[in-house]
Amino acid sequence: MAEDVAGIRLGGRERRLAPHEIVVSKTDPKGIILYANDVFCRISLFREDELVGSPHNIVRHPFMPAVVFRLMWQRLKAREEVFAYVVNRCRNGDHYWVLAHVTPTIGHDGRIIGYHSSRRAPPGGIPSDVLALYRKLGAIEQRETSRRRGMEAAWPHLMEALAPWQGDVSAWTLALVARMAHHTTVPSRVPQSEARPHALA
Ligand SMILES: Cc1cc2nc3c(=O)[nH]c(=O)nc-3n(C[C@H](O)[C@H](O)[C@H](O)COP(=O)(O)O)c2cc1C
Repeated sequence: MAEDVAGIRLGGRERRLAPHEIVVSKTDPKGIILYANDVFCRISLFREDELVGSPHNIVRHPFMPAVVFRLMWQRLKAREEVFAYVVNRCRNGDHYWVLAHVTPTIGHDGRIIGYHSSRRAPPGGIPSDVLALYRKLGAIEQRETSRRRGMEAAWPHLMEALAPWQGDVSAWTLALVARMAHHTTVPSRVPQSEARPHALA
């Protein structure tokens, strides 16, 4: 098993998105995938016909705490957009990290008719805060005898961590994105011949 960042073993190898690549999916109101773009298929190693029609947890990685998805769904159902760091599992057991932006789609009658998510490579990498919090929440969940009990036990710890952001996972995530952006050194002048997105990596 390959070792990932901060000594956390996630299984398989890490696959990385190029800086210009965006993983897109659309789901119905229950999270069944209706659309997957070619970047999603390529990074996850699933075929389009395997993704479309499947629940979105087809790419769920066991390192992701269930309670993070509970919070995500709560906010989506309240018609809020969600930004979050997520690690996903590929068809062959490899994994890839993303910075996800998930939004509800509202129909003409005002009801939620589906969801849309676009994700990109986390700029500057994965903040150690994310690894530490997800690891802690996952460990708390695993100590419990059921998934429901696990989420109940982990919930106060998630809320405590997000307290400075009033429990808003997106505000926490975007604060970390801003911090990580300072760590990324982008050349101030890029020669025209190299002015392609991957030249800035
Ligand atoms: C638009 C949209 C995109 C999602 N993307 C992911 C994703 O990339 N990875 C993931 O594990 N769950 C994703 N989810 C959440 C899953 O639906 C599910 O809640 C999560 O995988 C937890 O699965 P579980 O309830 O079986 O534990 C997404 C949900 C929506 C609505």
